[in-house]
Amino acid sequence: MEISTSILNVEKDNCIKTFYNLETAGTDYFHIDVMDGKFVENNTTELMLEYTEYLNTITNLPLDIHLMVEDVFSYIKSFLIFEPNNITIHYEAAKTSEELKQWINYIKENNCKVGISIKPNTELEKIYEFLPYIHTVLIMTVEPGKGGQALIPSTIDKIRKLKKYIIENNLEVDIEADGGINLNNYLELKNAGCDIIVAGTAIINSKDFKETIKKLKI
Ligand code: DX5
Ligand code: ZN
Repeated sequence: MEISTSILNVEKDNCIKTFYNLETAGTDYFHIDVMDGKFVENNTTELMLEYTEYLNTITNLPLDIHLMVEDVFSYIKSFLIFEPNNITIHYEAAKTSEELKQWINYIKENNCKVGISIKPNTELEKIYEFLPYIHTVLIMTVEPGKGGQALIPSTIDKIRKLKKYIIENNLEVDIEADGGINLNNYLELKNAGCDIIVAGTAIINSKDFKETIKKLKI
């Protein structure tokens, strides 16, 4: 599995050093958790813009932008400036499927991969129609809004069901899981069919980034 380290809870005062250490430790992506204080309670916009600015100057590692926002289109434009590897938008933020398709097309027209994320209580069937047009499905294994939460076990079945649907329909979509992932549960995610896992607390709070990332990568 590939590892996308969430930088949501990286301490600001030595963040550059932390980013260097994460890159040296072998993270595959930096996961940027952008929250607007409306779609979810927290607002991390300023901090994530600042961190993305730094990352853009110090690393070539791909940026995995996770937009937990209501005004999706303006945030897409703000983060496209950093030429990220992918931008993931929430199914629940779209008023119509038409609108969601417009966001998908706009991101792709700007040479950026696109992902759709669904919250734990959103059924998988809601996004089936979009799968042929996107690169990644980000399955939230916690309620979006903050780091350090416990993984919701029922979301693992969702990953298994999505993997089955992707194989049966010959689709080329990666499955990424996000929230509460650590060394106690990452194997279940791998066995359920995850291609990428997001980990924040499990990595940032560990004493050896390299060791933790190496184990999670299995
Ligand atoms: C939650 C974010 C997750 C979270 C991951 O809304 O999307 O990326 O910060 O952090 P941990 O791994 O600490 O749950
Ligand atoms: Zn996230």
